[in-house]
Parts: sequence; C-alpha cells; structure tokens
Amino acid sequence: MAEMALENSIFDPELLKNSYTDELIMGMKDFYKFKLRPLCATDMNKRYVELLSQLTSTGHITEQMFLNKFYEMKNNVGTYYITVIEDTQINVIVASGSLVLEKKFIHSCGQRGRIEDVIVDDLYRGKGFGKLIVQNLIALSRILNCYKISLECKDTNVNWYSSMGFITEHGNSNFMQMRHDE
Ligand SMILES: CC(C)(COP(=O)(O)OP(=O)(O)OC[C@H]1O[C@@H](n2cnc3c(N)ncnc32)[C@H](O)[C@@H]1OP(=O)(O)O)[C@@H](O)C(=O)NCCC(=O)NCCS
Repeated sequence: MAEMALENSIFDPELLKNSYTDELIMGMKDFYKFKLRPLCATDMNKRYVELLSQLTSTGHITEQMFLNKFYEMKNNVGTYYITVIEDTQINVIVASGSLVLEKKFIHSCGQRGRIEDVIVDDLYRGKGFGKLIVQNLIALSRILNCYKISLECKDTNVNWYSSMGFITEHGNSNFMQMRHDE
C-alpha cells in the first residue's frame, strides 16, 4: 500500500490502513493474491469498465473520457471514495464499491455517505469480496465522520445488506440506512 502513489489514487491510500477489516481479510482464503485499494487512474487497463458493465450499461468509454471523469472526481477532494479489489496475479479489478460524501449544514455542518455501484465479478462471487468492500466503506464512513450512510438496492440484496447492519426505512424496503449518530 505504501508504494501506491497518492497522485494516481482517487483518495489517499493511507485511509485504508485505518479502515481495514482485518478479521475478514485473515479469514479469506488466498487473500494475499488480492489487493484492496483506492481506484487508480490506470485501472481502465485492468478491466475496470468491463467490471462495471456487469452492474449496468456503461456506454462506450474512451481512455480520455475515463481519465477526465477520474480527475473530476479526484479534484472534488473528500467526496469520492471508490475502493476496488485487484487480482494481482492477472492484474484485473474483480470488485468495486463507492462511498460518496454529501456535505450538509445540518448535523453541525456534517456529512452523510451514500454507498453506490457495488459489484463483484461474477467469477469471484461468494468468496466474501462484496462483503469486504462494503464493510470497508462502512469503516471509511466512520473515519470520515458521516452521521449516516444509505443505499438503494434490489429486492434480492436486502438480506445481504441487512447482514452487515443496514436497516430498511419504513415503507420503502429497498432504501437502507445505517446511523452512526444514535
Ligand atoms: C451482491 C454482490 C455484490 C455480493 O458480492 P459477493 O462477493 O458475491 O458476496 P459475498 O461473498 O461477500 O457474500 C458474503 C455472504 O453473503 C451471502 N450472500 C451473497 N449474496 C447474497 C444475497 N443477494 N442475499 C443474501 N445473502 C447473500 C453469501 O452467500 C455469503 O454468505 P456466507 O458468509 O454465509 O458464506 C454480488 O453478487 C454482485 O456483484 N451482484 C451483482 C451486482 C449487484 O447486485 N450489486 C449490488 C447493487 S445494490
């Protein structure tokens, strides 16, 4: 992690040192082959867009479009925390999830977090990678002092997010949240 250049990362990799969920990583078979880290400017070469296309339509993205968007997000300092897992044996991004911070005047000029675009490559599902990404985003949201985080998900994923502590809001079972201020 130390060798990762800050200028190439969408957020400071040092932040992950504090948010690592060690027990989860230790319990994962062969995790030494994988690396949990911030999204990097060069990740389009590691099949990042192909991974996102398993989530939804990506359209046609050129390298220049990718880089423009990457730096637009990165320059919004303190807003986009996109975390990925790389299979370092084949240099491919196999999982990703985003924590996006929304600045507020309420809650003492606080901030809430939104979890977005959680995806695990279909060849790597069921190995705990999705959980590792989301647990890590939850830990980051605590470090960054979010008073709450929320997400919208498909019916089929409600139980999965519940297992990590999210609760559904009355009347809308697909809108889930987790409060850090209660
Ligand atoms: C949902 C998704 C991210 C889960 O990732 P994953 O890496 O396969 O999940 P994990 O291996 O971390 O799951 C850990 C545990 O949750 C269970 N689980 C996985 N998906 C589940 C679901 N939809 N509902 C309930 N439990 C689920 C696993 O069986 C596993 O259980 P175990 O710990 O008892 O063995 C992945 O299936 C995916 O990318 N789906 C397509 C995109 C998507 O739906 N993204 C979420 C958008 S809201």
